[in-house]
Amino acid sequence: MQILFDGDPGIDDALAILTLLREPVDVLAMSAVVGNVPVETGFRNLRDLVALAGREDIPVFRGASRPLVRDYVFDPMVHGVDGLGGAKLQPSRAALQEEHAAIALARLLAAASEPVTWVATGPLTNVAMVLGLDPSLVRKVRRLVVMGGSTLRGNVTPAAEFNVYVDAEAWRAVLASGIRPVMVGLNVTHMVGMRAEDFAAAEQIDTPVGQVAGTMLAYYRRVSTEQDWGAPKLHDVVALLGAVSPELLEVRPAFVDVETGSSLTYGMTVADDRAAADRCNCDVAVDVDADAVKRRMLRALRSY
Ligand code: RIB
Ligand code: CA
Repeated sequence: MQILFDGDPGIDDALAILTLLREPVDVLAMSAVVGNVPVETGFRNLRDLVALAGREDIPVFRGASRPLVRDYVFDPMVHGVDGLGGAKLQPSRAALQEEHAAIALARLLAAASEPVTWVATGPLTNVAMVLGLDPSLVRKVRRLVVMGGSTLRGNVTPAAEFNVYVDAEAWRAVLASGIRPVMVGLNVTHMVGMRAEDFAAAEQIDTPVGQVAGTMLAYYRRVSTEQDWGAPKLHDVVALLGAVSPELLEVRPAFVDVETGSSLTYGMTVADDRAAADRCNCDVAVDVDADAVKRRMLRALRSY
C-alpha cells in the first residue's frame, strides 16, 4: 500500500506518525498543514518526528499557512505552543524541501504508478488545494481517510470538530470533488481514549521514542484532566490505522455536507445516512475496534 500523510502535528498526529512509520506500507511523502500549530511549527515537528523514526528518506513538505477563506487563530492550549507538549526532539538533518506541499503532492499523485491511500489528520486545506490544482487527480487516490467532523457534537463549538472548524470551505471542496472520503469523526474517535493501563504501558517504553511519546502523553493527559474532557482521545491514530487496516472501522455510506455560512454552526458536518445511494459522497465511520487501535499504537512505539 502506498501512503501519503498530511497532518498538523499536534500530539495525536505525532502518535499517528510514529505508528505509521512502523507499519508495513510505502510512505511516498508527508506534509504539514496549518491547524493545531502554525504550519512552520507543524513542518518542523513533522521533519523532526520523521528523523526520530529514522526515516529521513521520506520527503516532508510544508503546506498551507492559512485556511482557504477564514482567518487562522492559533490556540496553543491543547497541544502546547510547540505542538508536542514540550517534548524535545533532535532537529532533522534532512534536506529542506522548498516545494509547496500542494505542488509536490499533485506531482507525486500524477506520477504514481497506482492509486494511493491518502490520510489527513488535520484541516483539509492542502487536500483541497491539490484537488483544485488538478481535479483529475481524484482518480489517483484509492482512499482518502480523514480525521474530522462528527455525526454527533463538536469539540471546538457544540456543532464543530476542530479540523473542520479551521477550514470548513476546504471540507466542502473535498466533498464536492467526488473523491468520496472516509470520514473518521469524533463519534468514533471518542471511543478510543487512553486509560490508566495504556499510559502505564507507554511509560515503560525506555527508548528515545518512548521518552518523546511519554512527554507528549503526559501533557495531553494533564490538559484533558484540567479541562475535564475524560480520557485523552487518540483521534488521529484512529484515522491512520483505519486507513492502513480498513477492517478496524465500520463505515456507512452517507451524504455529508458542511456548514460554512452560519456563525453559530460554522464547521458542522451533517451526515444523512438515509440518502439514496447515488447521492452518497462519503463513507462515515460509525464504529472502531478501539482496543486493537491502542494495541497497534503501543506495539509500534515499542518497536523502535
Ligand atoms: O478534533 C480532533 C482533531 O483536531 C485532531 O486531528 C487533533 O490533532 C486536532 O487537529
Ligand atoms: Ca490533527
